[in-house]
Amino acid sequence: MSNYLDTTIDVYKEAALRPDVGLCCTTTPVWQLPGLSMPKIMLEMNYGCGSTVAPRDLVNAPSILYVGIGGGMELLQFSYFSRRKSAVIGIDIVDEMITACQNNLIDAEQQNDWFKKEFIDIRKGSALSLPVESNSIDVAAQNCLFNIFTADDLHQALKEMYRVLKPHGRLVLSDPICDMDMPEALKNDERLRALCLSGAIPLNDYIDMITSVGFGTVEIRAKRPYRILSPKHYPGAQENIIIESVEVCAIKDPMPQDGPCVFTGKSAIYFGEDELFDDRQGHTLLQNQPLAICDKTAHNLKALQNENIYISESSFFYDGGGCC
Ligand SMILES: C[S@@+](CC[C@H](N)C(=O)[O-])C[C@H]1O[C@@H](n2cnc3c(N)ncnc32)[C@H](O)[C@@H]1O
Repeated sequence: MSNYLDTTIDVYKEAALRPDVGLCCTTTPVWQLPGLSMPKIMLEMNYGCGSTVAPRDLVNAPSILYVGIGGGMELLQFSYFSRRKSAVIGIDIVDEMITACQNNLIDAEQQNDWFKKEFIDIRKGSALSLPVESNSIDVAAQNCLFNIFTADDLHQALKEMYRVLKPHGRLVLSDPICDMDMPEALKNDERLRALCLSGAIPLNDYIDMITSVGFGTVEIRAKRPYRILSPKHYPGAQENIIIESVEVCAIKDPMPQDGPCVFTGKSAIYFGEDELFDDRQGHTLLQNQPLAICDKTAHNLKALQNENIYISESSFFYDGGGCC
């Protein structure tokens, strides 16, 4: 496993020279936005496993960092919201991927009269040592790269994202996760790892890694089936291993004294006789109105054992609002 970062570079060099439609991507529909025309080659080089582009993160033309650029599809989508010179910085370590992406952006310029290549500043560099100034970025994103990293490298990559973000800046991630035991033989298979198939870790570990570098708020925005590693196709697997993909936003909010606020899509509903329920910890539940709550608040409300408060399971589909 000592060379897995080099193996990864080789895999994506190949994927840049010969676009591979089945590599990584899911069948998640690509954003359709008025006036945005996506070059076919960018769709063919969609090597992500979800989306990191969410209009609600992108008001007021923010400065954006995108690590692991692929064919440039998400760079173009981010530029749609920040139409100014160098508003979007793209980082990649593979020369061939940078060249392919730059060519694709020329196609994008021809297809989109609002878009100029200069909106995107592509830099060669590693996710583990970003060539980007500290505290300079509003929204940082990566799609289907960090899952490849081993624990120490993932920690370093997250620390780098935290460093470059402004206070309250957002890190948006899309990655495979796996809540089953991944056999060591698969974990240590450098090529499978580079293909985003065997580096996936359990969702709770993924969240812990994110909060361990200081992010005070985490939102799980989506979770969906991604791949099955069956013993038929992957001899290192003893049973079918289910891999899912997640879309997560981590916010560089100060860490609350009682630990991070992690929203996994839980809601609380008070259905007692009073107009509202006030837990005196800053949470007011209006009668029969759902309130989105973080897992910490869900735990605290549950501990009250109030039979007039319903607390839902995690939907893994959090789209804003609520407590904290
Ligand atoms: C799975 S692809 C994802 C591409 C793109 N994010 C997408 O959604 O289509 C991984 C990308 O990360 C780049 N990459 C691999 N190792 C890297 C590293 N250590 N630092 C920065 N980029 C890296 C690859 O060249 C490739 O563009």
